[in-house]
Amino acid sequence: MCGIVGYVGRPKSLEVLLGGLRRLEYRGYDSAGVAIITEEGDLVTRKRAGKLAVLVDDLAAEALTDGSTGIGHTRWATHGGPTDGNAHPHLSRDGKLALIHNGIIENFAELKAELLADGYTFESETDTEVAAKLLGREYEAGGGLAAALGRVVVRLEGAFTLLALHRDEPLVVVGARRNSPLVIGLGEGENFLGSDVAAFVEHTQRAVAIGQDQIVTITPDTVTVTDFFGTEVQPTEFQVSWDASAAEKGGWSSFMAKEISEQPEAVANTLRTRIHDDHVVLPDLAGLEESLVGIDRIVIIACGTASYAGMLGKYALEKWARIPVEVQLSHEFRYSEPVLSPTTLVVSISQSGETMDTLMAVKYAIEAGAKTLSICNTQGATIARESDAVIYTHAGPEVAVASTKAFVAQIAALYLFGLHLAEVRGTLSPEATKEALDELSSIPEKLEQVLLTKERIQELAKWMSDSRAVLFLGRHVGYPVALEGALKLKELAYIHAEGFAAGELKHGPIALIEPGQPVFVVVPSPRDPNSLHAKVVSNIQEIRARGARILAIAEQGDASVLPFADEVIPIPLAGALFEPLLAVVPLQIFAMELATAKGLDVDQPRNLAKSVTVE
Ligand code: G6P
Repeated sequence: MCGIVGYVGRPKSLEVLLGGLRRLEYRGYDSAGVAIITEEGDLVTRKRAGKLAVLVDDLAAEALTDGSTGIGHTRWATHGGPTDGNAHPHLSRDGKLALIHNGIIENFAELKAELLADGYTFESETDTEVAAKLLGREYEAGGGLAAALGRVVVRLEGAFTLLALHRDEPLVVVGARRNSPLVIGLGEGENFLGSDVAAFVEHTQRAVAIGQDQIVTITPDTVTVTDFFGTEVQPTEFQVSWDASAAEKGGWSSFMAKEISEQPEAVANTLRTRIHDDHVVLPDLAGLEESLVGIDRIVIIACGTASYAGMLGKYALEKWARIPVEVQLSHEFRYSEPVLSPTTLVVSISQSGETMDTLMAVKYAIEAGAKTLSICNTQGATIARESDAVIYTHAGPEVAVASTKAFVAQIAALYLFGLHLAEVRGTLSPEATKEALDELSSIPEKLEQVLLTKERIQELAKWMSDSRAVLFLGRHVGYPVALEGALKLKELAYIHAEGFAAGELKHGPIALIEPGQPVFVVVPSPRDPNSLHAKVVSNIQEIRARGARILAIAEQGDASVLPFADEVIPIPLAGALFEPLLAVVPLQIFAMELATAKGLDVDQPRNLAKSVTVE
């Protein structure tokens, strides 16, 4: 949601801002704009509703004077629709100052009333314009831009990242953040700001994360970070571990197609260096190691796809570490008055590390005295920084809005943690640990094999492109896979899709089955010791008898489903807990191919944002 770029350095702001906004497009947005201080010292802006291409075409038709200082923004509408007028930047009353914003200012109505009473008028419906006008008024009171910003942000409630520039301070961009992301990029004679490192990684891999409630001032040669009251703080620099090419499509038709294909590598990179001599080695847990032995309960919190990874984590952690685990959606968690104590471990899972619902849930857990661990894919992200410890997934940048490679990497990270916790708690034999680690290590190669089914699934998806509804069934670890398959189809193809626990079928969903209804069924291995396989095959027969079209995802060589299925997509043999890492891939491909067949944008589905930074 809302992408933010700031630049100060050489007279090429427009190129830097548009390049940065292009790399932040994945966050999801519906309008875009820039503000630049020209070499002559004028403040110029341009903003347009629609995709970045609309703004770029507009700039080509009528050029904007370039300069050495600028800010750029992609807006995901909250207050007021996606119009030119509501797009950012917004200006101060005297037109000398421009401001952009990500987040929601919850007390904007009250602040707006104050400004209206003071004779101010507004051109947009946004909360952002209120902040711009307030900052303009504070600037007039003196002390410079950073100090004025400090006086404004202490009055704001809610979540925000703000960037601003003023024509009277031509080589300065200031920023502030609370509960919303902002990262600094360090260059030579130039510095950058961005919602995440993707905004500037083509220029520099040296980055600095800005802490909660901090203000940053960048000039071409200096970076200053303070708290909201002007006291300087020393932030720590980090090296971005991927380069610009990792965030490029590299010949693939979409980022999603590329990211699906990168899953073997995403899992391999997440496991790399963390398995030694049949043990899990997680130096990442240093901040938690001493508390781990006393943990008596785990609560996993996450949203969307990450929550389904969390459900799989529950099966693994309970089986291996014999510890009670519950999984909650982050936005439900803190309103349920959860029972937390210092012996509760709250594990948050988030690809972006910025999902506001999850961040707020983590903060709630910290305040309640629980221990916190995050599983996160984005270095330096807020959730990772707030938690006692973080296990980074090394899936590389995920650009497509619908999560794919981050999901399998999250499962791999959770399984590593589960096996480590089992060792700490002494609940798993060395033989069983070794067997599980061997299974986990073999997943990248097996994922390569699953990817070979792509063409067949493409045919199936084309053939089914006019489906009105698709159902997904699974049991045990197949259930989160069914939920994820349904979510992918909703997100990408805008088709009504539901995932069910196969055992629940007779308790309601079977009423939905009518002749021709497509149903994907995730079939457990026939080798499963709990005889789940037989139960799922019975479920298949029940719905087939009512006319359903069965699309089975089943283990290679499982002949038992052949007589009942209209289509069988084979996956390689794997232990029960590991099947989901493979079974989800055909469902990802199916959703992507069906959306493609319908002519839809698979990387940026309508209404969705990759990083949901509002509650
Ligand atoms: C959004 C995205 C989903 C994602 C969820 C959680 O809703 O559209 O694809 O699963 O956020 O994101 P996170 O970054 O916290 O994993």
